[in-house]
Amino acid sequence: MSDQVRIVEVGPRDGLQNEKTPISVEARIAFVENLVGAGLTTVEVGSFVSPKAIPQMVNSDQVLRAVDHHPGHEFHVLVPNEKGYEAAKAAGAKVIAVFASASEGFSRANINCSVAESIERFTPVVQRAKADGIKVRGYVSCVLGCPYDGDVKPTAVASVSRKLWDLGCYEVSLGDTIGVGTPLKARQLLRVVSGEVPIAHLGMHFHDTYGQALANLYAGLEEGARVIDSAAGGLGGCPYAPGATGNVATEDVVYMLEGMGIATGVDMQKLVAATNEISRLIGKPPVSRVASAINASRRSS
Ligand code: HMG
Ligand code: MG
Repeated sequence: MSDQVRIVEVGPRDGLQNEKTPISVEARIAFVENLVGAGLTTVEVGSFVSPKAIPQMVNSDQVLRAVDHHPGHEFHVLVPNEKGYEAAKAAGAKVIAVFASASEGFSRANINCSVAESIERFTPVVQRAKADGIKVRGYVSCVLGCPYDGDVKPTAVASVSRKLWDLGCYEVSLGDTIGVGTPLKARQLLRVVSGEVPIAHLGMHFHDTYGQALANLYAGLEEGARVIDSAAGGLGGCPYAPGATGNVATEDVVYMLEGMGIATGVDMQKLVAATNEISRLIGKPPVSRVASAINASRRSS
């Protein structure tokens, strides 16, 4: 496992979309800049969705415009439909992400349409993006369980992943939206889905609700997956996945990878400083075990 892993930092989007405390545009921009300063090169910075659905992501155009000046970095934004695509393109987006679900219940709650209808909606978005030279990432939510429908079969995940891949997504990120997966299920999922989408093009987007995310990632790494989505401090959740907590923490992922001899290029002290600042604004301490340990050791020294 000595090769490279790519981290997609989703804290400024997945992390902040569920926070009740209003965070200013300036603070969102500063958060992204701090993450880039810590060495993260791929950061999801916002979404172009309905302001009624997710008011926290309003003004994502301002965030994107302000941070999009680092050569060699990628700044991703979520786009649910053509209206969102137009806004993202106008703001200069170079990478967008469309988001489908493996389960009907979550699709309906999250984006107000069936899974099949969502693929129909994404088709012109991906076509236009391709024509405009914009890369498209695909998400599949509820890959290891759904808050509305319960168990989700790996074959259902494989089928939606294949559709996104065939549309032209360069990568499909598998979301354990409610963090219910366990390592053997995560491994089995990757085995099945990699029959449809090459493993090098699969991302692991695991929320940590039940504390299994790192173990699930390790199982995925053993299967050959090399793209990990994580959020600084373990921020996050989805308003349409009640009770689900944040993404696996970037600090915890970086600590595990570096401990395995996999270089991440991330400066842990700077990353924890970025987390501490956003946590201060949110008014909650970070849930990341590594950030907590580093903060405790700083206090005692
Ligand atoms: P809808 O109500 O069916 O849409 O919502 P509509 O087309 O009927 O439009 C309704 C209103 O929304 C209209 O405004 C539209 O203009 C507006 P009104 O006339 O009522 O004033 N609208 C928009 N405004 C701004 N940007 C847009 C846009 N589209 C329509 N793009 C819709 C459908 C998809 C828009 C809505 O349900 C929505 O925005 N959902 C977003 C949900 C979301 O962002 N969820 C969180 C991200 S997904 C996630 O967290 C999971 C992930 O992390 C992976 C994992 O963990 O599994 C990615
Ligand atoms: Mg998520």
